[in-house]
Amino acid sequence: MRILVTGGCGFIGSQFVRMALAEGHQVVNLDKLTYAGNPANVAEVAAHPGYRFVHADIADPAAAAEAVAGVDLVVNMAAETHVDRSILEPQSFPMTDVVGTAVLLEASRRAGVGRFVQVSTDEVYGSIAAGAFRETDPVNPSSPYSASKAGGDLQALAWHRTYAMDVVVTRGSNTFGPRQYPEKLIPLFVTNALDGRELPLYGDGLQVRDWIHVADHCTGIMTAATKGAAGEVYNVGGGHEATNRHITARILELTGRDARLVRHVADRPGHDRRYALDTAKLRALGWAPAHDVDTALAETVEWYRAHRAWWEPIKTGEYRAYYEAQYGGR
Ligand code: NAD
Ligand code: TYD
Repeated sequence: MRILVTGGCGFIGSQFVRMALAEGHQVVNLDKLTYAGNPANVAEVAAHPGYRFVHADIADPAAAAEAVAGVDLVVNMAAETHVDRSILEPQSFPMTDVVGTAVLLEASRRAGVGRFVQVSTDEVYGSIAAGAFRETDPVNPSSPYSASKAGGDLQALAWHRTYAMDVVVTRGSNTFGPRQYPEKLIPLFVTNALDGRELPLYGDGLQVRDWIHVADHCTGIMTAATKGAAGEVYNVGGGHEATNRHITARILELTGRDARLVRHVADRPGHDRRYALDTAKLRALGWAPAHDVDTALAETVEWYRAHRAWWEPIKTGEYRAYYEAQYGGR
């Protein structure tokens, strides 16, 4: 297939680009290169004959129209993705996650693209006290990030109902692994711990997330893209629930640090207590996660230990201003 991946210089997108090329597909990667977009994430495939990079914004109709021409499959991963940033500065989130998605959907429809996969998140469902969300559950987002992602999902589904466009939505759970920008829980705490810096744990730290390794998230998206039915939503969850306290304790253990590094800070406003996904629908298509989360967490710590040259330059400049705004005086 000829696949357009948007956001392919980000964490999950770059993994998906490498996986798709290794499977023999041709890939166009359209990325705006925001603070989270890093060309180093795709450096090893930059010269691959089946790969092309387009530096553009998904919300730019002309760029979107050009990029979707002749494409069989669009996988829309481009997004503003960090909940805490969405609380600090909410305006940029609907610009990409809602408006950008609409622009890309419409360009894809006009070009006659075979299928459009909207990569979404379990956070659109909101928090669940017990049990697990199924695809038929209503969306009930809590943060400006998850509300914007829900807007993107609903538009993708509307393009299916209104125009009979072939659309599939995936809702993935909390993802971790190499090359994740060090603002989300695992890469932030790993890099801080490696440097002997404090780990800012929100509230009581007993919030629960359903963790999945990035490679498993990508095989889940590809399974939904190739075997899923048009107009359907597929949950992509690792099925490995853990409290933030547990993840923090494991990171301390794996980096050889002790609990004095943990700093209990004010909770995130609107903080979802627990996420959990029922993945029976995707598993029925033959998918299952292949990585044990605890082993993969240890490998991820080793990756960050061995790749300081990847993350140390990131944790300067704009990052420091963000960190101060987010955590200073918290
Ligand atoms: P990321 O923040 O690492 O990367 C996002 C990428 O999108 C960057 O390369 C950035 O430059 C690009 N981008 C942002 N705005 C753009 C625009 N307007 N036009 C073109 N490119 C733009 O994100 P990620 O963690 O890899 O997430 C990828 C997708 O998966 C997102 O849609 C996200 O909502 C979804 N998701 C992420 C997780 C997670 O835990 N990370 C879980 C479930 C779903
Ligand atoms: P995060 O990685 O931001 O993902 P999401 O909010 O999308 O689930 O956060 C995961 C959990 O870790 C969430 O419950 C918030 C918590 N957390 C902290 O306690 N401290 C931090 O500095 C960060 C970034 C997150």
